[in-house]
Amino acid sequence: MSFEEHRKRLYRSIPDNSLIISYAGVPLHTNEDDYYNFEVNSQFFYLTGLERENMAFAAAKTGGSVTEMLFIEEADALMERWTGKMPAKEEASAVSGVKDVRYTSEFDSSLGRIMGRCLIENVYFDLYRCGLNDLPDYNALKADEFAGKYPGVKLCDLHRACVPLREIKDEDEIACIRKAVDITRQGLEHVMKVLKPGMMEYQAQAEFEYMCRYLGTKKFSFNTISGSGLNGCMMHYVTNHCEIKDGSLLLMDLGAKYGNYCSDITRTYPANGRYTPRQKEIYNLVLKANKAVAEAARPGVTLRELNDLTRKILGEGLVELGLISSWQQVGKYYMHGVSHAIGIDCHDADFAGDILKPGWVISDEPGLYIDEEEIGIRIEDDLLITENGCEVLSRDIIRETDEIEAFMQKMKSGN
Ligand code: GLY
Ligand code: MN
Ligand code: MN
Repeated sequence: MSFEEHRKRLYRSIPDNSLIISYAGVPLHTNEDDYYNFEVNSQFFYLTGLERENMAFAAAKTGGSVTEMLFIEEADALMERWTGKMPAKEEASAVSGVKDVRYTSEFDSSLGRIMGRCLIENVYFDLYRCGLNDLPDYNALKADEFAGKYPGVKLCDLHRACVPLREIKDEDEIACIRKAVDITRQGLEHVMKVLKPGMMEYQAQAEFEYMCRYLGTKKFSFNTISGSGLNGCMMHYVTNHCEIKDGSLLLMDLGAKYGNYCSDITRTYPANGRYTPRQKEIYNLVLKANKAVAEAARPGVTLRELNDLTRKILGEGLVELGLISSWQQVGKYYMHGVSHAIGIDCHDADFAGDILKPGWVISDEPGLYIDEEEIGIRIEDDLLITENGCEVLSRDIIRETDEIEAFMQKMKSGN
């Protein structure tokens, strides 16, 4: 399926007399004359497949038919001298499938004409907000500006409209995620080859990222988490600045992106190539939950139910190990959810109560974090929900303790 098909799905789901306005976004300033790496707005990407800044997409649905336009920056010889070739209209049209491509200088007059001539009642902007006190996103600022000019229209949330569409991945999207998972597999195998006590956490991170970049990765799904010992007990530790001690575990939560789609994998490795019996005991309990989730994940089940299952398995295991007295106390050692949707974003469009359907891609990531023993273990796989169950997309990334030990020993002995 193509980006054109993504748009068609959206047009089918919104009422007549609607206008969609989606901006790619603008580069965000850091300090002096520097900017953060540009991240395209996910809704804009989903609808166009384009990843460049300063672009905009508009579509009006009136009288049952849709008029769509894409706006790109006009090539500027001076800018091209500094930062390279800018895409031409033909290229933007070829990627997105939008036939009517204009320059951004024509945006105001084009939109003004639509608003003047059509009976637009609903205007869709990406209004998603994560934290209450976050700076407003560029799309939200533009929505405010637009509403000030046209106070009579109803502002609608493009993010909300795209969530049910984005949840179901088409074949092209699944192919990208498969490729992202495979690059991540190669990155992790490289880490297992070189990992040894005394290495720094950032060196393990560098080895992973080196291999992914060597294989052509342009972006990562999120900042690589590389935490050893107690640091592995901090769920989103990204400082990565401690030495990996002999006898400790290294928890690596990471993922390459491919075609702007994420992989999201966690593996927990023994620094010296061998798990201690105690580490193995905890590891195998986490692995039991990981396998049970993959077994249970199927259409009709909710993410909440998968998490309840995880809590029960981990809780009962912790009671057997004598760490807690009733399974309901599991929150002492397991503090997050087991699944989230994966796609353009690592935590992709989903709502916790949603019912899984074929085409969803979700994580399967139970973990246990036992500070007093400096044991932090998470095992995270990516699952594609199928008609009857699920496919573990990351099945080739080894996870059994004996497989990991054998792989690491083989590398050490040079065979
Ligand atoms: N890496 C973030 C997560 O697993 O949810
Ligand atoms: Mn993860
Ligand atoms: Mn995850």
